[in-house]
Amino acid sequence: MKFVACPLVVRPQKLELPPYALLSELVTKANMTTPKTILITGASGLVGQSLSTALMARGHSVRTLSRSDRGDYQWDVASGHLDPRALDGVDVVIHLAGESVAQSWTDAAKARILDSRVASTRLLVDLILAQEKRPAYIAASGISYYGIVRERPVDESSDSGKGFLAEVTRQWEGAAQALTEADVRTVFLRTGIVLSVKGGALAKMLTAFKLGVGGCIGDGQQNMSWISLPDLVSVYVFAVENVALHGAVNAVAPEPVTNSMFTKKLGKVLGRPTVFPLPASLVKILFGEMGKETLLSDLSVLPKSLTDLGFEWQQAELEIALKETLS
Ligand SMILES: NC(=O)c1ccc[n+]([C@@H]2O[C@H](COP(=O)([O-])OP(=O)(O)OC[C@H]3O[C@@H](n4cnc5c(N)ncnc54)[C@H](OP(=O)(O)O)[C@@H]3O)[C@@H](O)[C@H]2O)c1
Repeated sequence: MKFVACPLVVRPQKLELPPYALLSELVTKANMTTPKTILITGASGLVGQSLSTALMARGHSVRTLSRSDRGDYQWDVASGHLDPRALDGVDVVIHLAGESVAQSWTDAAKARILDSRVASTRLLVDLILAQEKRPAYIAASGISYYGIVRERPVDESSDSGKGFLAEVTRQWEGAAQALTEADVRTVFLRTGIVLSVKGGALAKMLTAFKLGVGGCIGDGQQNMSWISLPDLVSVYVFAVENVALHGAVNAVAPEPVTNSMFTKKLGKVLGRPTVFPLPASLVKILFGEMGKETLLSDLSVLPKSLTDLGFEWQQAELEIALKETLS
């Protein structure tokens, strides 16, 4: 902290400033908590890749648990195998792994979406409880916990809603209940639509918009609760470093928008027309139940826990978030 204040009070001719890289490293270290050892599941995915980089930049040590040998440690959820050494000396477990939701929801796919989350959570919970020093547990979850359509804004105190994804998130969070009962710090990040060009909803919309055939989905009146990828990564870092954060936490930007507003802003940022709507009836024909629960869902979700704890969004406004994401 002394170092940060130094350039403001020492006369310039006497000050030998360190190179910029060293300066920023010292400032970062001055602002951070004790370095932790963190195990991340699903680290190869969209969120996990950016999060691993961000945690290491803040001086934390990251190890990964994967189905493939690209991870530092391996697991096989279906057979119940998890390398027990993965948790040796770990302070925080971050559980991101889960079968992608963006696929046709056949019975087999639905079983994979549910089982990959619930069974994997049970494996982690059993191993955490077996540790002498139990690590904190931070897990991805979804705003679909609140259902498909809600007439009023919801926050973390709201009840759960209807639909397949709501059931998945209830069971996903519920599988970690034993940790809460054992006084292990648990955080469930109920994540909104993540803005990224590398994956997720925005990446899928871009092709149509760039070709000039983008437009509203349905009547465009449904609310979309979104978050930029850098802000989501910061929420995870905040959850690692801020022990006051626990329980359900809505990981969304403070201002949800209607699909019509989202479409308008995206068209503006891309400089493309947005006059080709995708009717709700066509969404249901093309994407079935998955389309109804994702593209047509109407959720205005408020990040009350993060706001109460003073979390600061870098991209709280949609147009800025879209510009920076697409730049
Ligand atoms: N992106 C979003 O908009 C969004 C919104 C709400 C919630 N979330 C949740 O946040 C978490 C991270 O999201 P993401 O976008 O980074 O996901 P992602 O890119 O799909 O990556 C998920 C990772 O999970 C592992 N995985 C995939 N299928 C699996 C299976 N059947 N069994 C076990 N592991 C499997 C893979 O890692 P390995 O191959 O290394 O094992 C994969 O890289 C997910 O659980 C997702 O549901 C995301």
